[in-house]
Amino acid sequence: MSPTELSHFFCPTSIHIGVGSYRKVTDSLRRWKVSHLMVLLDAALLKSSFYADIENLLKEEVEHYEIYTDIEPDPSAHTVEKAYQVCRDSGATVLLAIGGGSTIDVAKAVGILATNGGKIHDYEGIEKFSTPPLPLIAIPTTAGTGSEVSGSCVITDTERNLKMSIRHASLNPADVAILDPLALRTVPQHVAAHSGLDAFVHAFESYISRQANPFTDAINLHALTLISGSIRPFTANRNNLTASLDMLCGSALAGMAFGQTGLGNVHCMARFVGSYFHLSHGLSNALCLPHVAAFNLPANSAKYAKVAQAMGEHVQGMPERLAAHKALESIRSLCTDLDIPSRLREAGVQEDKLDEMAELCVRANYNRWNPRDTSLHDFQRLFHEAF
Ligand SMILES: [Fe+2]
Repeated sequence: MSPTELSHFFCPTSIHIGVGSYRKVTDSLRRWKVSHLMVLLDAALLKSSFYADIENLLKEEVEHYEIYTDIEPDPSAHTVEKAYQVCRDSGATVLLAIGGGSTIDVAKAVGILATNGGKIHDYEGIEKFSTPPLPLIAIPTTAGTGSEVSGSCVITDTERNLKMSIRHASLNPADVAILDPLALRTVPQHVAAHSGLDAFVHAFESYISRQANPFTDAINLHALTLISGSIRPFTANRNNLTASLDMLCGSALAGMAFGQTGLGNVHCMARFVGSYFHLSHGLSNALCLPHVAAFNLPANSAKYAKVAQAMGEHVQGMPERLAAHKALESIRSLCTDLDIPSRLREAGVQEDKLDEMAELCVRANYNRWNPRDTSLHDFQRLFHEAF
């Protein structure tokens, strides 16, 4: 950013960190004097020992808790509506989300409807609501979206076949986030890799964003160090609690930053790759990452040199341009080590849709954040190179 540009940094979430920090859920329940609670839970965790331990605490702390598990990946507005009905009928005054980004995003949307009324569609965009949502405690069970601290939630409008982004930097992050590695022990290996790479891309794209500022830079560089240092051992063994904690912290740090800086062409392209070919958000990002990273390098090679360093490359004393290219090598080897296909075609993407997706990317206007101006021709080239 230039020194004459105004910028801002804010994170309102209180964060508990560490093995066993799930027990801190009781502090918030007591502080808010909660008698009726709604628990939004990833169904895969219903029978887990992690949830059983939390449920034992809830039995002691609250009069009534309602469990809601009917949440799909890329959750729809219909799911939000159903969950909201359950919330209303239960009389819940506080929400507890235990799950990945989808679960936390539905909880955020329910909280907004509970205090602002209407439909979730009414709040698509930036700061479209003004009443604080129901208090939310979020316990992420994947390290990826950073939704527990970010100011956005993403809900799919199935009628219009698009994802609505509901953003409010001060009112949409959870009130309390609990980053407990015990929550990550049952994550499948491919989900660990794909969601972990999503977190990496958040930190990377936020760091090189046009809207980056000194606060987001400091946060993102450390997020890059934590994630690139721990994503391999974490993916290999989700019971590696040290690597898990690094991933949770890296993902949350990036979540604090990218809401303020915006993201770039990786997320722009992945948005359409994911929705056209039903690929997960993390995998769609990972497929586009090496190609976009190479395209964006000329816009800010100084920052790429710092990315290389954060990723553990020995670049001291190297000319900036060579150090910057080390970041590209490091990113490529990260994707290879995590079994990401090197071509879009290997993941099921069809060539006849590439130009159509390129046009949608131009319309999405990520040039607001992406460091290198990107034209329709550039997006076409990027898609065809990645194919
Ligand atoms: Fe993402």
